[in-house]
Amino acid sequence: MGGLQAGSVGAFKGRDVISILDFTRSDLEELFEAADWFRRRLLDGNVPKLLDGRLVALAFFEPSTRTRLSFEAAAKRLGGETIGFTSEEAISVAKGESFADTIRMLDAYADIIVVRHKYEGAALYAAEVAEKPVVNAGDGRQHHPTQAMIDLYTVKLLFGSPDGLVYAVLGDLRYSRAAISFLYGLTLYKPKRVYLVSPPQLRIREEVEMVLRERGLPYREASDITEVIEEVDVLYVVRIQRERFPDPMEYEKVRGSYRVTPELVKKGKPTLRILHPLPKVDEIDPRVDSMPQAAYFFQASLGVPLRMALLTMILGVYAG
Ligand code: NCD
Repeated sequence: MGGLQAGSVGAFKGRDVISILDFTRSDLEELFEAADWFRRRLLDGNVPKLLDGRLVALAFFEPSTRTRLSFEAAAKRLGGETIGFTSEEAISVAKGESFADTIRMLDAYADIIVVRHKYEGAALYAAEVAEKPVVNAGDGRQHHPTQAMIDLYTVKLLFGSPDGLVYAVLGDLRYSRAAISFLYGLTLYKPKRVYLVSPPQLRIREEVEMVLRERGLPYREASDITEVIEEVDVLYVVRIQRERFPDPMEYEKVRGSYRVTPELVKKGKPTLRILHPLPKVDEIDPRVDSMPQAAYFFQASLGVPLRMALLTMILGVYAG
């Protein structure tokens, strides 16, 4: 699309979604209200066909389970159709076609383009090439704005508001776009404190830290989650992003270096809630899954109503 139009009324209409930092708190409140509306419709089995006749392109140049399937479920439950692909091998990129040409085709075929790519900046570039709105479903280690929207919405439903809480973000803060986008999202709110907990090799990158500092996020680094767990309301965990390591030996040095166990969880407040964008690998002991603190499956379920809200608002068909 190019050109962002901010504003509180209909802030999403026709808009690209590249970074959570492009949005305001009131934009997100508007989105969450619409997500609430769709959540009720889903529970009643009464989803209006607001996307009848609309085509959503799902351009996944990199693997995905939840993001792709929840966009697809959202579009189809709303009566829309989807086209797309799930890897570069499946399309003419394998024959040498450029990214820009692939996006131009989707721009001609569909009404909105959802893009995931291993390279930073791919979604922004797609938005420059395409006339139709582009939604970033993850660009390398940089942004994952719709995941951050789901995460903040989850916190809102669990605690009433993301404000005033103590957060710990645990894991690969160097490469995880989900963790980074969540931290960027928290800068739109007023958390009491945010602990960044990562192995030293995977600490947050300087350019990300600069944004958090400039935006006044009250964060501090902690070397061990056990030191802070008693204070924490929301523990946000991410896996080590193995595929982003330039050197497999570096991955070997950090693999298995943190793990959330039932013993750790029991040290926290009874009201502690654990979020994770998923997929999880070995950083959460599976015994934690059945504890009341585990909120990650609930979080994943919110991907559908949130993305319904986003698609209908961008396409200008949500009336609430
Ligand atoms: C995340 C991603 O792709 O960045 N997955 C997701 O979209 N829920 C997190 C991850 O892969 O670790």
